[in-house]
Amino acid sequence: MTARLVVLVSGSGSNLQALIDGCADPAYGAKVVAVGADRDGIAGLERARRAEVPTFYARVADFETRAAWDERLTELVAEHDPDLVISAGFLKLVGPAFLAKFGGRYVNTHNALLPSFPGIHGPRDALAYGVKITGATLFIVDEGVDTGAIIAQVAVPVLEDDTEDSLTERIKVVERAQLVEHVGRMAREGWTVQGRKVTIP
Ligand code: GRF
Repeated sequence: MTARLVVLVSGSGSNLQALIDGCADPAYGAKVVAVGADRDGIAGLERARRAEVPTFYARVADFETRAAWDERLTELVAEHDPDLVISAGFLKLVGPAFLAKFGGRYVNTHNALLPSFPGIHGPRDALAYGVKITGATLFIVDEGVDTGAIIAQVAVPVLEDDTEDSLTERIKVVERAQLVEHVGRMAREGWTVQGRKVTIP
């Protein structure tokens, strides 16, 4: 069986592209069936269209309440009947409706070694703190900000002359590889979550 992936993006979509490319191999075991966003006009949606993957978006500002947006996003994703939902640089926290439907199978990639440096400035915060090693974390999203159970982590040394941009770019290279490897394994082999421990058999 080929696992159905819905990928959520807010920006350039390089992680999405890596997944689309990974799925081109039939042995990978997964297919990107739709790409969603919280805004229009972003490179991530363009990448999806080029790959002839259906797209949708829901902008928070177009809804009366955050809860109404969350419910609509949940519906839009559910229409594509995903086995796994992947936040690949999706900059919105989903709410209770989304987690009720997709909890346990909604994964996110973060550009720091959690639980250090959660939030949207992972590389900047790691540099400012002066750590010598940072990296990327793939995890199962829960109701917190970057607090979910960890699937995989990869380390990246901080170099003497790193800037926020150079560190961000080096992290992204290994982050993409980690995402593609583990999503593929989850798709092919399944996974279990016991407390904070995620196991891919
Ligand atoms: C990733 O580095 C992710 O960790 C962060 O945003 C970046 C997304 O990049 N939250 P892209 O849109 O996949 O290129």
